Amino acid sequence: MFLHLLVAAALVCTAQGQSRRPPPANRTFVSKYIDGMINNLTTQMREKDPVLADMFGNCLPNTLDTTVLFHGMDHEGLPDTFIITGDIHAMWLRDSTNQVLPYIRFVDRDPALDLMLQGLLRRQTKSVLIDSFANAFNFDGSKPSPWASDIRHPNMTNAVYEGKYELDSLAAFLKLSRSYWHHSKNATVFDESWQRAVTKVISTIQAMQAGMDQYTANPPYKFQRDTYAPTDTLSQGIGPPGASCGLSRSPFRPSDDATLLPFLVPANAMAAVELRQVELMCHEVGCKGTLAHSLGALAEELSRAVQLHATSAHGFAYEVDCHGNSVYMDDANIPSLLSLPYLGFVDRKDPRYLITRQRVLSSKNPYFFRGASGEGIGGPHVGYGYIWPMSIAMRALTSTEESEVEWCLELLKTTTNSTRFMHESFWKDDPARFTRPWFAWANSLFGELILMVAERYPHLIFKATVFS
Ligand SMILES: *[C@@H]1O[C@H](CO)[C@@H](O)[C@H](O)[C@H]1NC(C)=O
Ligand SMILES: *[C@@H]1O[C@H](CO)[C@@H](O)[C@H](O)[C@H]1NC(C)=O
Ligand SMILES: *[C@@H]1O[C@H](CO)[C@@H](O)[C@H](O)[C@H]1NC(C)=O
Ligand SMILES: *[C@@H]1O[C@H](CO)[C@@H](O)[C@H](O)[C@H]1NC(C)=O
Ligand SMILES: *[C@@H]1O[C@H](CO)[C@@H](O)[C@H](O)[C@H]1NC(C)=O
Repeated sequence: MFLHLLVAAALVCTAQGQSRRPPPANRTFVSKYIDGMINNLTTQMREKDPVLADMFGNCLPNTLDTTVLFHGMDHEGLPDTFIITGDIHAMWLRDSTNQVLPYIRFVDRDPALDLMLQGLLRRQTKSVLIDSFANAFNFDGSKPSPWASDIRHPNMTNAVYEGKYELDSLAAFLKLSRSYWHHSKNATVFDESWQRAVTKVISTIQAMQAGMDQYTANPPYKFQRDTYAPTDTLSQGIGPPGASCGLSRSPFRPSDDATLLPFLVPANAMAAVELRQVELMCHEVGCKGTLAHSLGALAEELSRAVQLHATSAHGFAYEVDCHGNSVYMDDANIPSLLSLPYLGFVDRKDPRYLITRQRVLSSKNPYFFRGASGEGIGGPHVGYGYIWPMSIAMRALTSTEESEVEWCLELLKTTTNSTRFMHESFWKDDPARFTRPWFAWANSLFGELILMVAERYPHLIFKATVFS
């Protein structure tokens, strides 16, 4: 009986590859267009590399298949969508934006996908209006979060799952907005509430630019948790000091770990890009009053401050305090220094970026690991020696060399431990030791990488005959 099953499974594998997607009836959202696209691409990819084809077929739809906890209408009859990170039943602003990013380009081909994305935008708008200092939200306010006992200003509420302020969460809301607008040209969701949320993003980023005297006299944000992990709390509820220089504080990183110095450079860079993009979009959707102007002015201020206070002969710093101190490391989570061209802050050939890239992909970065499994960037979040596949995908997405892209694809392929999904991280000397069997954000990023490769380096994933 057991053997019989194994044989049957092997036959299925040969015929269709190792799909790990849930059965259609169990998927949390279905986009006919995206399924068709995946089918077409994987069929072509399989002729060259069945394993990579399976990985793409599993990873790209993973967010649609497993994380759209709710999509439908809210009590005002407007679209509403709640996308969880995967293993935690809460919605992160950053993750949910990154999870849907590779789908947004198809929005005009699939009305159901369009409504689902509009719902996510409305949900993010509401979330920012509820608490612009929170990184993650509960589906509804019916029960308190496990972190309800955190000491925090603004106070925790049942709407908030976790209350860590991360500048890139707000930038993620802006990025979702302008990306959706770019591909849909539908301004319905960019209504008065959305403009209020964008206004709140600006005032929040500005409040976090204050110098220490003003900041400590009347802190716009405080956070303390009863914990053994120093990365999960802030000293005095405030975090490390920083002088006023135009940069905006981010007490926590995109990994949800506390920063070492208050001004997280990649997050400021991303915010500068997204504020600018939303300024441009505001002219098209007709934002009220001085909103467009304020967006542009703040974008300029952050961008100049990064150039002035976070750039040196070593390239870009990861964190600075504007007293002259800098941390030169990189963390796999995005925004990172490695991702600066992907974020649109610099050109991938910018000499300052090339110096930065060389440094963060070397032992000068304390979180760059190399071992029998391969090499890549990790971070303090899951621990020393663990490489995050997300950093390998980002290395490929920001590369200028085809051979490096090919090398990254091969490394991603050999480190899934046959799960054919992206893990959160794997041990540098043994890919059988990993954290999280799948990770929705990383799966989407891998899908995005393959879509880029299909466009720019098709011969790396398709048999030459397809194009002859
Ligand atoms: C699919 O959903 C059904 C009904 O909820 C459930 O019984 C079944 O176990 C699910 N199958 C998988 C593979 O998740
Ligand atoms: C997939 O391929 C079929 C057959 O060539 C084509 O009709 C269809 O439009 C393709 N779908 C997508 C989404 O590319
Ligand atoms: C926040 O919580 C503290 C402590 O429970 C309480 O004293 C304070 O009134 C609350 N503030 C607001 C605005 O609800
Ligand atoms: C925009 O989306 C809404 C649904 O929220 C729809 O009713 C409307 O027709 C769309 N407008 C355009 C221009 O596509
Ligand atoms: C990794 O793969 C090996 C070989 O297939 C398997 O024995 C092991 O259980 C896997 N590890 C995990 C953590 O799934």
